[in-house]
Amino acid sequence: MSAIAYLECTKCGAHISADQPQTICPSDGGILYARYDLKTLKRYFNRAALATRPATMWRYAEVLPDAPPVSLGEGFTPLLPSREFPNAFIKDEGLNPTGSFKARGMSAAVTMAKAYGLKKLAAPSAGNAGSALAAYAAAAGLEAYIFMPRDVPLANRVECESYGAHLTLVDGLISDCARMVAERKEKEGWFDVSTLKEPFRVEGKKTMGYEVAEQLGWKLPQGIIYPTGGGVGLLGMWKAFEEMETLGWIGAERPKMVVVQSAGCAPIVKAWDEGKPTAEFWPDAATLAAGLRVPKAYGDYLILQILKDSAGIAVVATDAEIMDAFRHWAQLEGIFAAPEGAASLVAYRKLRANGFFSAEDKVVLFNTGSGLKYLDVIESRKQSPKPPASRQIGGIIGPY
Ligand SMILES: Cc1ncc(COP(=O)(O)O)c(C=O)c1O
Ligand SMILES: [Zn+2]
Repeated sequence: MSAIAYLECTKCGAHISADQPQTICPSDGGILYARYDLKTLKRYFNRAALATRPATMWRYAEVLPDAPPVSLGEGFTPLLPSREFPNAFIKDEGLNPTGSFKARGMSAAVTMAKAYGLKKLAAPSAGNAGSALAAYAAAAGLEAYIFMPRDVPLANRVECESYGAHLTLVDGLISDCARMVAERKEKEGWFDVSTLKEPFRVEGKKTMGYEVAEQLGWKLPQGIIYPTGGGVGLLGMWKAFEEMETLGWIGAERPKMVVVQSAGCAPIVKAWDEGKPTAEFWPDAATLAAGLRVPKAYGDYLILQILKDSAGIAVVATDAEIMDAFRHWAQLEGIFAAPEGAASLVAYRKLRANGFFSAEDKVVLFNTGSGLKYLDVIESRKQSPKPPASRQIGGIIGPY
């Protein structure tokens, strides 16, 4: 593994040492990115070296923090060719430990927290990040203090309790949970591992970008659809593409990055539609896709910049569309997706219908979690089972 050369502020470009635990840029609150000496790494870290590596995200160790990994086997999830759309692929993050892609970020963040000698970690969570933090803290022998909205899916609550985390259920949204962590962390001696308030969750999530490239034979797709709350995976994948280009593993080509949010909480879509560089707080956020109920993303300025730089787009999915897509994937693909993941199919359908993507474009749809974490949510939306439309016409998978 390589040592981190420095942490770099994404706002002012300041270089900050990674020798001690860091949070955000002290002068402007900018998100810090870990930087490595990629020019030197390029001489000996090549794609062929990966062939014999374990099938976890730590196969990319040289571009991850230099510390003994706290690992539960996260990453290197399948990239499944869609059975419905010839050039669509589903990156199934539901197979990660704790059933979501949040495992990647927490594996990296807890690895570094342990290496720094931190003992108590705290985070607000829309659900799955809390489960992942609880699991990795348990594996590392650290304490986890987790604040979640009271109405998170049942699995998230049961997981946190089972892993032995200190769980506080809050009558409010993730933004209220974040405020509680911020108010108490100093007095309680907690290190805050909130989304993008420390530099390493994004390092874990960036491995999704490395994997998409590796699994597609080092040719990036034309599009990537990502269900966006705080946007860490989107930022991470974009960072991975830049790193891979510096390493000489890919060229200058980039996928169009697509943000999908729930119609009941779509601050990034609104800002994108209005051409704004940052997003406003979304009032009265409500959606069954708990992970998308993030009224204000700390990394909004980076998400919106990536949409611009990649010629991407931001789209909404209603809860009804999400549930329809959930059933469709289950019945046509055999994939039991998280509602957030099913939103990717809603976005893909819309972007095929309006010509943003053609049938020839390779597009990766992220299923960010397993539907098994949402049984109570799914049960509450149950409809009488009916075959999907394409099966009703004699099994011909038609265009829509
Ligand atoms: C299943 C799932 N998908 C997507 C998201 C949104 O992730 P991010 O905050 O990285 O945008 C979450 C966040 O909790 C989630 O749990
Ligand atoms: Zn700064």
